[in-house]
Amino acid sequence: MRHRVSTRKARIAGMLHDLARLYSAERLTTESQARGFTISAAEREHPTLLHARLGAALARERFGIEDPEVLSAIEKHTTGADEMSPLDCVVYLADSLEPHRTFAERSELWELALRDLRAATRETMRLAAVHHARKRAHLEVSASS
Ligand SMILES: [Fe+2]
Repeated sequence: MRHRVSTRKARIAGMLHDLARLYSAERLTTESQARGFTISAAEREHPTLLHARLGAALARERFGIEDPEVLSAIEKHTTGADEMSPLDCVVYLADSLEPHRTFAERSELWELALRDLRAATRETMRLAAVHHARKRAHLEVSASS
């Protein structure tokens, strides 16, 4: 146990977090609508975002996971959230900072995560927001030229 997080719960969330990751955009949307999810404008534009919430639903339906902490960690693993438990942070950071990620700050953030889970989560979410804003601006410039 590190950061007062159950390794058992982290392992279960880690194994199941991407259950819907390889679904097509159409399937993500259809299956989310079938479960009555409210779909945001961002999710409509980028249906891949739905794989986190849908993954939590599939973990419950197919694997009988009822633990709200595990389901929350699966739901929040892609974008994070305003309110995050230590388990949410661990799964979010493990996903965002896994060794195959190539961005420059990855290993520094990994080291920070070992010392300060909250600070690492905040900084990783901040960098993700900057990255997405730059990507959006680049697309807008490309579209207008
Ligand atoms: Fe994912």
